[in-house]
Amino acid sequence: MRAKILSTGSYIPERVITNFDLEKMVDTSDEWITERTGIKERRIVADNQATSDLAYEASINALKKAGLTSQDIDLIIVATVTPDMLVPSAACILQMKLGASKAVAFDINGACTGFIYALSVAEKFIRTGAAKRALVVGAETLSRFTDWTDRSICVLLADGAGAVILEGTKKDEGIKVIDIFSDGNMWDFIHMPAGGSKMPVDETVLKKRLNFIKMRGNETFKVAVKTLEEVVVATLQKGGIESSQLNLLVPHQANIRIIQAMAKRLSLPMEKVMVNIDKYGNTSAASIPIALDEANESGKIKKGDNVMLAAFGAGLTWGAALIKW
Ligand code: UT7
Repeated sequence: MRAKILSTGSYIPERVITNFDLEKMVDTSDEWITERTGIKERRIVADNQATSDLAYEASINALKKAGLTSQDIDLIIVATVTPDMLVPSAACILQMKLGASKAVAFDINGACTGFIYALSVAEKFIRTGAAKRALVVGAETLSRFTDWTDRSICVLLADGAGAVILEGTKKDEGIKVIDIFSDGNMWDFIHMPAGGSKMPVDETVLKKRLNFIKMRGNETFKVAVKTLEEVVVATLQKGGIESSQLNLLVPHQANIRIIQAMAKRLSLPMEKVMVNIDKYGNTSAASIPIALDEANESGKIKKGDNVMLAAFGAGLTWGAALIKW
């Protein structure tokens, strides 16, 4: 038995922040942001929206497209680093909002690789028969943990949510290979120093702005390009196909230069690479399911296509999945 994606869904908050808006907030320029990252604008939540609200909209979208109700779901996994609160999980709040009373629900923190982590866990539930139908969501409100005075990070991060519904199949389709990895030695490449048990938020933390995400961007960049290429090559090999047989690569949207370098190393033309970072920025765990939904909706993916998902992020974490659509 394999797990296959029955449907995709997404939700993008309405509020747009352009590079020109950021020019008025920090010492940056549209030219720098566009050239170095590929981002032109990003979406930010409304004041009354939390991660579970975005996750809810994306989930309803995916359920509708699959012709299912929340009662048909017995597993909910939300990949996020920005849950509504530390306790309980965003997944339990989502379960309540959906009325998915038959499901078990929990979060996974795999940072920008979070969606592939969650997909990997859900895939095992489906393959072993422990769950019949799973709702896997990537949802983030990174804007709440962004230092809007730090130009090295505020031009990158954004909010959004994407979801997929998984079901078992006995046919030659669905998730063929999925592998996830981590290396905690580089935990401080991307991290939020305060707000956890190590450094509770107090006045000093607020003054030093330690309750926001920090990133050693340039070092992360170098590891990301190399690791992403390696994980895609290994996943192609495991799946028994060449990169030329890939119909679409859906990478985590962290930086257009990382995506282009990866495509070049894999000899993949950019037409076979899903890119929407220009519109949405880096939405961490949400970026792959949002991009997957956009690709699916726009007809970029057809039945039988070989689709590769690949991500890299804080932890460090990385992973890839080869799907026969
Ligand atoms: O999503 C999870 C994983 N994350 C990633 O994979 C992100 C990886 N990293 C990156 O995408 C890139 O490293 C960044 C986009 C974060 C930065 O680009 P970079 O080409 O690595 O720039 P840099 O950090 O080496 O900085 C180059 C210059 C510096 O100025 P000096 O020292 O050369 O004078 C920075 O101070 O650019 C400056 N700079 C900026 N200038 C204008 C940094 N941020 C900005 C900014 N606007 N927003």
